[in-house]
Amino acid sequence: MAHYKLPMLEETGYAVLDSYGDPIDPQEWLSLEYVDWKSGGDTRFAPLASAYGEIECNGFWHFDPPKPDKDGVWIDSQVEKAPTLVKRALESGANVGRCRVIELQPNTYADALYNSHEDDNNRLNPDGEGWVVRCFMNLTDDQDTYMILREDINDPESEVRIKLPAGAQLMVDSERLWHSVWHGGDEPRYCLITSFESGPELEKWMWENNPRFHVNDIDLDPEFAKNSEIEAHERRDARTAYYGYDPTTVKSEA
Ligand SMILES: [Fe+2]
Repeated sequence: MAHYKLPMLEETGYAVLDSYGDPIDPQEWLSLEYVDWKSGGDTRFAPLASAYGEIECNGFWHFDPPKPDKDGVWIDSQVEKAPTLVKRALESGANVGRCRVIELQPNTYADALYNSHEDDNNRLNPDGEGWVVRCFMNLTDDQDTYMILREDINDPESEVRIKLPAGAQLMVDSERLWHSVWHGGDEPRYCLITSFESGPELEKWMWENNPRFHVNDIDLDPEFAKNSEIEAHERRDARTAYYGYDPTTVKSEA
């Protein structure tokens, strides 16, 4: 038996949803406790739900007892500071695994390609249960920032770039799609990232938010794209040589 996957994500692996409505007080994410955790660039994370309610970002399978990326335990001290973020994560009624705010420092398009990876969302997830996907809710109003998605990291033609202003909501099968963020601002970007189990609740909530499955918000100058591609692959190759393997082929724990 296979995992249950959302039919609506079958073709492209992502859906751009309507923006969420009400502005959220930046204090909700700025007052959280962050831990250093590297994923897709210069990042820190503030967990809201973790494997067993501690302020840490490890994959749920590292604990005793190990568990899949579901049934995250809310962290009281963080929940107190960010009630609206928690409300947003719970809105669909779907099972929540890891839920945290990411802080990303500004970077370049080539950096984003260098950082691109696939997530490990379904380790220990029993066959027959819902496939875990990720929802990205952008918090800061990042006007020059894009989620970069590729079906194949080596195929630039498979890329789409999705803008991330405040309120942008995006569901991604991030174990299938290569992903990273090109953050062109000059301040850190903050985004709420939640692991959700695929199922009727998630599906209903996504349909209510007008999902779009073919989105590309910016075209790049071909010369710029080509040079960035070369730079990123040179850096990826150097990293592979350094480690003796490509660390991004070992699915990211973040
Ligand atoms: Fe990721």
